[in-house]
Amino acid sequence: MKTSGNVSKQNPGAVRHIVLLPGDGIGPEVIASARQVLEACAVRFAIPLAFTEAAIGGAAYDACGSPLPQDTVVKCCAADAVLMGAVGGPAWDKLERGLRPESALLGIRQAMGVYCNLRPAIIYPQLAAASPLRADVAAKGMNLLICRELTGGIYFGDRGRESVVLPDGQAVVSAWDTERYNTAEIRRIALWAFQSAQARQRHLTLVDKANVLESSRLWRETVTNLAADFPEVQVDFLYVDNAAMQLLRRPFDFDVLLTSNMFGDILSDEAAEISGSIGLLPSASLGAADRPGLYEPIHGSAPDIAGQGKANPLATILSAALLLRYSLNLPEAAAAVETACQAVLTAGYRCEDLRDTGASLPVIPVGTQGMTEAVLSFLK
Ligand code: IPM
Ligand code: MG
Repeated sequence: MKTSGNVSKQNPGAVRHIVLLPGDGIGPEVIASARQVLEACAVRFAIPLAFTEAAIGGAAYDACGSPLPQDTVVKCCAADAVLMGAVGGPAWDKLERGLRPESALLGIRQAMGVYCNLRPAIIYPQLAAASPLRADVAAKGMNLLICRELTGGIYFGDRGRESVVLPDGQAVVSAWDTERYNTAEIRRIALWAFQSAQARQRHLTLVDKANVLESSRLWRETVTNLAADFPEVQVDFLYVDNAAMQLLRRPFDFDVLLTSNMFGDILSDEAAEISGSIGLLPSASLGAADRPGLYEPIHGSAPDIAGQGKANPLATILSAALLLRYSLNLPEAAAAVETACQAVLTAGYRCEDLRDTGASLPVIPVGTQGMTEAVLSFLK
């Protein structure tokens, strides 16, 4: 499996520089948790880590008038890896598009060139009761990896608005966004998907809308051509509407799902919900091998529970595990964090998002810090 980051060029004892982007809402709380876990790994595995914080999102807008200050971009691009909390909230919802926290997120993804967004979604057996799926379906499990294209497509395509007068004399406003991909953009993310599939269950599903969209037909052609180089990987194709349905019917049948930017955004929330809680899903966003990766939980800033110490930090802690694996090339440390997260779930620790599942197991109710300490205790 490829790794990403500046580390490969350094000697193994060198300090690894991690930029933390706490952001908004529950972002600062979950980042503080993940930092404690990374610091514990630094001790246990004798890896010198240095942390720098930088501003992003609404917090950055409030501090300096821009949701993505240039200083943040410079720091992130010079780091070995970047760990982000979440951005956004009602306070900034009415700002014009370019000043909204979400545009900072798209901006940092683009500036860092992280075109490959990996979103693993798992039904942990300990949490099968938390899945909204029928018990017999959830019992068969789910362990899939969404490979989402992250720096192209409709998120970044030409867009605009104009006032037009219709032939009947009616004055209306028209708006458009454009889905545009070239074969190089498709090929590089598809390569990640094929290589990931090869290291997993060797099954790749391209999700598209090739019955309607020309861009989807280009995805199919490109993936079909690439498939010749990966004869061990079984490739199939699903229209996105059907994929949304099949994920609910037979989540256990999927291995790697390859998607465009928007389809991956939508299906990863669905997969998160199937896994039991969006508070569990990490993500890694990767680009060229010598550039830093960007790691973030897939959940949002959850303004309704921000500042209350309730947020589930596991998605961010698991994102830190991906950071250890992909950017710092420390698979052992990554596996230790993942094993500790599994162990806390097995032991019954639950933040609020995972209680009330109807399961009969006794639960140890915890908040953000309690969950963090439980993970730390299993990590030692
Ligand atoms: C995600 C989020 C973002 C996206 C938003 C906040 C811009 O939903 O990371 O899934 O659409 O990529
Ligand atoms: Mg999303």
